[in-house]
Amino acid sequence: MNKQTVRDVSLKGKKVIIRVDFNVPLEGDKITDDIRIRAAIPTIKYVVDNGAAKVILMSHLGRPKGVGFEKEFSLAPAAKRLAELLGYPVKLMSDCVGADVKSGVASAAEKVALLENLRFHKEEEKNDPAFAKELASLADIYVNDAFGTAHRAHASTAGIAAYLPAVSGFLIEKELQYLGLAVNNPERPLVVILGGAKVSDKIMLIENLLKKADTIIIGGGMAYTFLKAQGINIGNSKLEKDKIDLARTLLEKAKAAGVRVELTEDFVIVPNFDSNDGKISDVIPDGFESLDIGPKTRAKFKKVLDGAKTVVWNGPLGVFERDAFANGTREIAFHLASLKDKGVKTIIGGGDSAAAVLKFGLDNKMTHISTGGGASLEYLEGKELPGITALNDKKSTGGCGCSCSCN
Ligand code: 3PG
Repeated sequence: MNKQTVRDVSLKGKKVIIRVDFNVPLEGDKITDDIRIRAAIPTIKYVVDNGAAKVILMSHLGRPKGVGFEKEFSLAPAAKRLAELLGYPVKLMSDCVGADVKSGVASAAEKVALLENLRFHKEEEKNDPAFAKELASLADIYVNDAFGTAHRAHASTAGIAAYLPAVSGFLIEKELQYLGLAVNNPERPLVVILGGAKVSDKIMLIENLLKKADTIIIGGGMAYTFLKAQGINIGNSKLEKDKIDLARTLLEKAKAAGVRVELTEDFVIVPNFDSNDGKISDVIPDGFESLDIGPKTRAKFKKVLDGAKTVVWNGPLGVFERDAFANGTREIAFHLASLKDKGVKTIIGGGDSAAAVLKFGLDNKMTHISTGGGASLEYLEGKELPGITALNDKKSTGGCGCSCSCN
């Protein structure tokens, strides 16, 4: 990464404001998956351990209306979990800007403070310069470690970098290292598994991967539009009619580029979406729809994956949230875990694929699981992420060989 990190700045005695992504799933005030909080710990600890005078954390949670405090979007559960993980107290502020916040942070006995949800102010998402400046006024150094929100050009992810030295944390560094490796310099063969509901969500991703991948495996809801484009009957399965021609064009482009595409060839079919009585079938008769890949397809995909040195996975292969249709996604996830043990780099995009891997208890069995859904998708599409672009570039290496500005 050509951006400065926390290692490149002196933190001693400094007030450091860190943008984290604590946009975690909640049931009431119970966090059901704390991976994003755990992922921020190394940077927070590093900043504390390297002598920062104050560490001020800021995040959004959900999509509140932007007109003030809403209890269901409070970061209180995140503050509690963070304190447990850090092993020391965290002061939760009642807001993120204003004179009270400023004096409250300064006078707090706790070294680490968490500002209340940034999106209680509409200025955050508008990237309002005055709001960004006010956030910046709390600190001497800005660290962005919110990879999950790096695709948003908001005041706390982009605007603030105009007012403070701006560097990345370890999570962003790690995410870019693995996702970057996957798309820019993969150990080949690179096999990409694409799933998820819609072709329309993945068009740019497929276009970009056609330039990078050796093989693309397509499963999940989006596969049926590709099958239809090949003249295969898909019954009532998920179809994007207006994307059939595009799917055909993408298959032609893949052929021309020498990229092998593997599609679903057997199915778990049901008479209607709500039925859990799935039957394995080589065809999808009229009146039925498919909600998972069948056993032949699983075996075929595994065989293809056996030849890979790097695998990138974006999107589940069936309706994995329901046990009756989770087998395809589960078998492929376990297979990837076994390949990782054999030295294959297994990189899981965020969002649903990460949720699936977590559901199957494989969170420690992959090379990398991204904490960013939209952000990892946009990165893999080849787009710039505003939250990263805004950070300071590394100084060029001088004749002395270090990363300084000696000459
Ligand atoms: C995410 O969960 O993808 C990030 O936290 C960004 O959230 P957003 O889509 O509400 O901007």
